[in-house]
Amino acid sequence: MNAILEPAVELMPMVERDLDEVLRIEYRVYSHPWSRANFADSIASGYSCWVCRIGGELVGYFVLMLAIDEAHLLNISVAEKRQGLGLGARLLRHAMDMARHGGAVTLLLEVRPSNTRALALYRHFGFAQIGVRRGYYPAATGREDALVLTHALTEASA
Ligand SMILES: CC(C)(COP(=O)(O)OP(=O)(O)OC[C@H]1O[C@@H](n2cnc3c(N)ncnc32)[C@H](O)[C@@H]1OP(=O)(O)O)[C@@H](O)C(=O)NCCC(=O)NCCS
Repeated sequence: MNAILEPAVELMPMVERDLDEVLRIEYRVYSHPWSRANFADSIASGYSCWVCRIGGELVGYFVLMLAIDEAHLLNISVAEKRQGLGLGARLLRHAMDMARHGGAVTLLLEVRPSNTRALALYRHFGFAQIGVRRGYYPAATGREDALVLTHALTEASA
C-alpha cells in the first residue's frame, strides 16, 4: 500500500527575516494591513509571534500579546489560497496554548462584524461576544465597529 506523503505543517516563532513573506499575505488578506514596523515592533516587544509553514512555504501567522492573566490576539491570518482548510483553526489552537502556557486565563480579540469567516472560526472555538468597540477599525467609508470576543482558557481548546 502506498502512503500519500503530505508536507507537514510546521509552527515556529516569527523572526524578522519572515517579514517579507508575512507582508505578502498581510497585504492580500486585509483592506487595512499592518505595516512591517507593526510586526517588527511586536517581535521586539516579545509578543508571542508565530508563523506556520507547509513544505517551507509561509502560509499563516499570528501575533499574541500576553498580559498577566489575559492574552490579546492582535493578528491571525492565513494565505488566501490556503483558507478554509483548517489552518486558521490550527493557528488559533496554538495561540490558545501559548496564552495558557503564559498564564492567561482569558483570550480576547476584536473582529469586524463583516468578517464572517473569522467569526465562524471563533464561534467554532466557543468565543463569546462581550462588547462592541464603536468605530474601532478604518473602513472604505469611515469607520467600522469591532466586536470584542473572549474565551476562557481553563478548559481544553476545541
Ligand atoms: C480568519 C482566518 C484566519 C481563518 O482561517 P482559515 O484557515 O480560513 O479557517 P479554517 O479553515 O481553520 O476554519 C475553521 C472553522 O472556521 C469556520 N470557517 C472557515 N471557513 C469558513 C467558511 N468559508 N464558511 C463558513 N465557516 C467557515 C468553520 O467553522 C471552520 O470549522 P470547520 O472546518 O469545522 O467547518 C482566514 O480566513 C484569514 O486569514 N482571513 C483574512 C484575515 C482575517 O480576517 N483574520 C482575522 C481577523 S479578526
